[in-house]
Amino acid sequence: MAILAKHLLGIETMAPEEIFSILDLAESYVTLNRDQVKHSNVLAGMTQINMFFENSTRTQASFELAGKRLGADVMNMAVAKSSIAKGETLIDTALTLNAMRPDLIVVRHPSSGAVNLLAEKVNCSVVNAGDGRHEHPTQALLDALTIRRAKGRLTRLTIAICGDISHSRVARSNILLLGKLGNRIRLVGPRTLMPFGIDEFGVEVFDDLRKGINAADVVMMLRLQTERMEGAFVPSVREYYHLYGLDAEKLKFAKADAIVMHPGPMNRGVEIDGALADDIGRSVIQDQVEMGVAVRMAVLDLLARNLRRAVLEAGRSRK
Ligand code: CP
Repeated sequence: MAILAKHLLGIETMAPEEIFSILDLAESYVTLNRDQVKHSNVLAGMTQINMFFENSTRTQASFELAGKRLGADVMNMAVAKSSIAKGETLIDTALTLNAMRPDLIVVRHPSSGAVNLLAEKVNCSVVNAGDGRHEHPTQALLDALTIRRAKGRLTRLTIAICGDISHSRVARSNILLLGKLGNRIRLVGPRTLMPFGIDEFGVEVFDDLRKGINAADVVMMLRLQTERMEGAFVPSVREYYHLYGLDAEKLKFAKADAIVMHPGPMNRGVEIDGALADDIGRSVIQDQVEMGVAVRMAVLDLLARNLRRAVLEAGRSRK
């Protein structure tokens, strides 16, 4: 079975075996990234274009590092200075870049579904680096790798995802991935920050943080995504922190060895206490960042293998 086929657009269509294959390969890249010489040539001769239509620190930097460590030529498109700023559409920009014959395009876009649409218009492989509220597949994969390394397994865990669920593509991709692998998922937050139709997700829903994280193995905090909100979804940041901000006191309701996660960027004193976020005895937030590079290397490697296989097969069928 080919892992990932041509694109990585979301977790929704992925089989558990595909997820495990990516994580297993990512383990080898964790080892490589801890070496002094962090280089491989599996993407040598290939061109990777990163198109980020929304701000990013972790995802863009780690896709860039991942491509470079694998030997690709990596170009970061400067969206603000591109023809998008002159009114060119996403599709026209994509077709223009496609004509330059990249092998891989990594895209982040504020509109849900934009990355899938783009993938239909280009010849190369497309990786979703986050589209609107829809999916952020590599974030869910790196979270899964972090959990597996901390807990020794990726099934039968109680995982509380807390905060602004309704605006979060990270929550959606994690619910899909961790749900497929047989974990118990709890969503915790005010009702105003829960998506419509939440009952169909196969999760438990809590509006009390202490009850929601009770005896949890993993507590995943999410940022209040004010940039996606029209109007106020919480009465005040102070009250939100009081009720839903995670600190060492509230964490006592989770299992004694529960890990604390956050995809970043973090709002200290809003959804999480700064000291807890920095407590490496409980917080795996920096591990998540490290796993992000390894997972993205694994994804790019697998997509490149599939591209090479497709070229070979096309050559054979022409003979
Ligand atoms: N987790 C995440 O997507 O972070 P960035 O917005 O910094 O890429």
